[in-house]
Amino acid sequence: MQGKSGKQPATITPPLASHCGGLARFGGLFSYNTMKILIACEFSGKVRDAFSAQGHAVMSCDLLPTERPGWHYQGDVRDVLNDGWDLMVCHPPCTHLAVSGARHFAAKQASGVQQEALDFVQTLLDAPIEKIALENPISIISSRIRKPDQIIQPWMFGHGETKATCLWLKGLPPLLPTDIVDGRKPRIHMMPPGPDRWKLRSETFQGVADAMAAQWGVPELEFELA
Ligand SMILES: C[S@@+](CC[C@H](N)C(=O)[O-])C[C@H]1O[C@@H](n2cnc3c(N)ncnc32)[C@H](O)[C@@H]1O
Repeated sequence: MQGKSGKQPATITPPLASHCGGLARFGGLFSYNTMKILIACEFSGKVRDAFSAQGHAVMSCDLLPTERPGWHYQGDVRDVLNDGWDLMVCHPPCTHLAVSGARHFAAKQASGVQQEALDFVQTLLDAPIEKIALENPISIISSRIRKPDQIIQPWMFGHGETKATCLWLKGLPPLLPTDIVDGRKPRIHMMPPGPDRWKLRSETFQGVADAMAAQWGVPELEFELA
């Protein structure tokens, strides 16, 4: 799943050239400092579209096609890590890393798939990109690479449910809660089996995607128009 796809990558469709280094609007503020952003391991398009709405040039990348129209590279993210991004948000697979699957760890270590998954995470964290956020559930990344910078929950961002999500951050501040709501059901955890279960479980919560874009998509140079 994480190896080089071996497939011919799908054509990369860039957004309007004017998005790069152009004028972007942030509420009442305007800026020329728009960013080139990579959303790695995302098929849903949720984080990509949240940052795009802020005026940035944003590409998602996944081995799978994007579920919503938008700038998307279907292929191995390692093909595009050196393409001059200002910011990357990544959602690498947790299948071989999440502590919820600890009973399978011995087999995963013996087969080498766990180390392969860790190497993939390390490659993403080491990418030559100034600002990086990597998200994963509670996983052995904490003990084998480093502890996360913060742990967020959907209920901090307007969704009344629980799903502990760790964030490893480089050059970015911790995400601030935007809408703390009642409700602490582990809805995701209790989802019935089905072919799309893993997809539904892995999609980023909209409130979290919006918070990332609102808080991390704000450029450093801003000015107010009279
Ligand atoms: C946990 S899911 C993340 C889903 C994401 N939160 C979303 O909303 O679309 C992990 C994704 O990583 C993708 N993936 C795995 N290895 C990859 C690679 N080498 N390059 C790009 N994507 C990869 C998988 O196809 C899968 O969709």
